[in-house]
Amino acid sequence: MKADFGVIGLAVMGQNLVLNVEDKGYTVAVFNRTAERTKEFVEGRAKDKRIIPAYTLEEFVDALARPRKVLIMVKAGAPVDAVLEKLFPLLERGDLVIDGGNSHYADTERRLKEAEERGLLYLGTGISGGEYGALHGPSIMAGGHREGYELVQEIFERIAAVGPEGPCCGYFGQGSAGHYVKMVHNGIEYAIMETIAEAYDLMKRGLGMSPDEMAGVFSDWNGRELGGYLFEITERILRYRDPETGEPLVELILDTAKQKGTGKWSTQSALDIGTPAPTIAMAVFARIISALKDERVAASEVLSGPEPTLGVDRGEFIRRLFGAVYLSVIAAYAQGLRQLRDATAERGYGLDLAEAARVWMAGCIIRSALLVPIRKALLEDPALPCLFLAEPFKSAWGEYNGDLRWVTCLAREHGIPTPAMDSALTFVDAYRAARLPANLIQAQRDFFGAHTYQRIDKEGTFHTDWEAVA
Ligand code: 6PG
Repeated sequence: MKADFGVIGLAVMGQNLVLNVEDKGYTVAVFNRTAERTKEFVEGRAKDKRIIPAYTLEEFVDALARPRKVLIMVKAGAPVDAVLEKLFPLLERGDLVIDGGNSHYADTERRLKEAEERGLLYLGTGISGGEYGALHGPSIMAGGHREGYELVQEIFERIAAVGPEGPCCGYFGQGSAGHYVKMVHNGIEYAIMETIAEAYDLMKRGLGMSPDEMAGVFSDWNGRELGGYLFEITERILRYRDPETGEPLVELILDTAKQKGTGKWSTQSALDIGTPAPTIAMAVFARIISALKDERVAASEVLSGPEPTLGVDRGEFIRRLFGAVYLSVIAAYAQGLRQLRDATAERGYGLDLAEAARVWMAGCIIRSALLVPIRKALLEDPALPCLFLAEPFKSAWGEYNGDLRWVTCLAREHGIPTPAMDSALTFVDAYRAARLPANLIQAQRDFFGAHTYQRIDKEGTFHTDWEAVA
């Protein structure tokens, strides 16, 4: 009896995916670099299940039915290459390798080529939803060889979370399309998390609200049009009390956010392809600044600023904060989707944006009620350049932009940093400006570097000897 599916890497994500696949009626072969973990798994969580342990890669490959379908769940970067180096030579033509980690898309392109040269199929696949999602239904974003996807489509559809528009897994195109979509998903994730953190800071430092009171606000918002997983867990985090001290745990956590790189890669790629993703970028920089804890503590003694207390009516502020958060969250999706649109043109992925919205509807970290109207807008106009141009987002901008301005003005006035909200506002203000001051920038470039400029009153490319004229 050979296994239908194989998983390499038995950290919690890997284990949970194995159990999820097995639960759907498949036999799964497993391998881990250290044998102890495999033993522990088969004697524990995997006991009495259709799970075949292998203690060498040869044994593992031998345990799989052909064409073999192997999912690698190891840390992104060198560990993936280390596995592939040993695995590729053992596989046979037509076998499929799936990298389920958060690999950089350039690495995926390279590995896919190598697989291709060996006659193997390869899928770079983003899997979102954390440990819980892996076990109960993740969101799966695949890309690479389409024939490879067809081999595992049934398994993926069975293990994926089910959203309002079907199983949350999809094939996004050739090459590194799947990992690119997952990377941008994480960029959006960073921007929404930063927006929520800013709202928390405004309520906490600006209004002096307690974690329980703030939890009530997030609970209310979660039931509204922007509701989603990140709002839901924020409420739960704010309500959680540390068993040791009885204090709200969130207030005992050091304020330095870490990152594994996907938000940064998303921003790097946005810069490379020239797509505006400022809110995602600001969220990455906010984490970077948060990490400078010692410097910040020292600077707080040196650099003065206004009192954070906002001194406004709490009810009114919270009502208007909703509008600010809502527009900032829309901006995060708008920028991420725009990046996917531009990336597909630049990199030839053939991405379907409405499909990305569908696959993000359940299982993943950025799942949200907003994805229903987002998908609808993208189905109506697959080339939509900016979400804010479509309903209901156009009306939301009209209704709430005053709130976003008011909230960010107050934040400025009281020295509370809100980079995600600020950037969301200036992104839309710049996008809707028929004329920006870039004419002056062109004049400056031409002045010091003879970089030339174009005119609005006649065709052509011009250069002025500015010193002579001046
Ligand atoms: C997901 C998450 C997942 C992981 C990120 C966290 O979709 O399930 O995005 O991939 O939690 O790697 O990223 P940072 O460590 O960079 O915050």
